[in-house]
Amino acid sequence: MLSIVGGAPVEGRVTVRGAKNSVPKSMVAALLTSKPCRISNIAEVRDIDVVSRLITALGGTVARDGDTMEITADTLQAPSPEELEEAHGQSRIPILICGPLLHRLGAVTIHQPGGCEIGPRPIDMHLDALKSFGAVVEELPEVIRLTADRLRGCKLTLPYPSVGATEQVLLTGVLAEGETELSNAAVEPEILDLILVLQKMGAIISVQPGRVIHIDGTRSLRAFTHRSMPDRLEASSWACAALATNGCVSVSGVAQLDMMTFLNVFRKAGGEFDVSGETITFYRVANLLRPLALETDVHPGFMTDWQPPLVTALTQAQGVSVLHETVYENRLGYTHALNSLGANIQTFRECLGPSPCRFGRRNHLHSAVVVGQTKLQGGDLYVPDLRGGFSYVIAALVADGVSRVHNARLIERGYESFRDKLVALGVELL
Ligand code: EPZ
Repeated sequence: MLSIVGGAPVEGRVTVRGAKNSVPKSMVAALLTSKPCRISNIAEVRDIDVVSRLITALGGTVARDGDTMEITADTLQAPSPEELEEAHGQSRIPILICGPLLHRLGAVTIHQPGGCEIGPRPIDMHLDALKSFGAVVEELPEVIRLTADRLRGCKLTLPYPSVGATEQVLLTGVLAEGETELSNAAVEPEILDLILVLQKMGAIISVQPGRVIHIDGTRSLRAFTHRSMPDRLEASSWACAALATNGCVSVSGVAQLDMMTFLNVFRKAGGEFDVSGETITFYRVANLLRPLALETDVHPGFMTDWQPPLVTALTQAQGVSVLHETVYENRLGYTHALNSLGANIQTFRECLGPSPCRFGRRNHLHSAVVVGQTKLQGGDLYVPDLRGGFSYVIAALVADGVSRVHNARLIERGYESFRDKLVALGVELL
């Protein structure tokens, strides 16, 4: 549990390292070759530990030296059912090992994914893509078994630009025989970072206009050395903490380009920022924050992971903000806890935004109206998921008195040393 004394602005400097949603995918890419691969700018977050353990269970070695990691997967083996279950129970990354293992072993077993607090998160697009490459997919009650003699390039179109399914296609297509053309692909910066890794390994991948990715399959791939892109989600979370508490936080190690959409919205809400090389300093210029109409979307739209911290800050805006969440059907559960502290957030089934989305007719509470400014009072908060969890931390920072954030361990999945960083920003923890 984390006990936070709220009511004071956060002030100071934090550094972010490699992206939690990018490093583990580069680690999976290392399974495509038997040669040692090096990744640097690695943060200490739990998702990376999960993938390290999985690679070890697969017979590879993972050697860490400071913020650098060397992965060698010269021989691979199937992990034990227990090791498999452990990996899948903690992260979604393990489903991405399908392509590399099918290429190298001809077979792979993954777990049926569980539901989570932000929606059911099915893997149908992943499995359909793998079938298009020629994999035989056998869905059993607990596990999914995939086999393939030889994977062949194909033409496929995703029903929705899924980040994970696009990565699955990339990690499979690079060693498939012939060419692959993926339409309606996701093009998030984390995907481009993976493409850079694969290009260093010898792959030929082009990102074409209109969300099309073209892959020329190759017979073998070589080692790579890669510095991971910075974690733009962690950076934006600290920015929202500064915005909400009327503080000032300098975030080092970031890339402005990856955060361009966030920065525009941050400024519209009454925030300001100064960019100096790889440091962005976030603060508030307006005395009171301005309300916003916000719609989440795939890149280059406003990211769904930016939404919970920003909505929490909008409880401090003067007026009515409207949110339309179009990526996950169930990402507003965290708003109930904010209301229990005094926020005024109502959720709706209707699409309250310009783009009608997949969830409008399906009875999902995926829009919200935030009425501000509301005074928050400290209380007990139970972390539902990673980003929801950080939002609770922001709410606790804004609230008067002490808040107890339970299950705060979940936040460590994606935020390195976040307790130390809070202290460095002047936050009193009990
Ligand atoms: C990645 O998840 C990130 N996770 C998420 O971050 C992020 O929110 C998401 O991309 C969107 O940007 C990692 O990179 C580890 P998707 P991913 O496939 O790849 C539906 C965080 O907090 N879908 O783009 O799993 C899905 O249910 C996490 O850091 C299917 O229906 O996301 C969702 O509604 C949370 N079938 C939508 O697509 C499928 O087979 C987008 O999901 C796959 C996805």
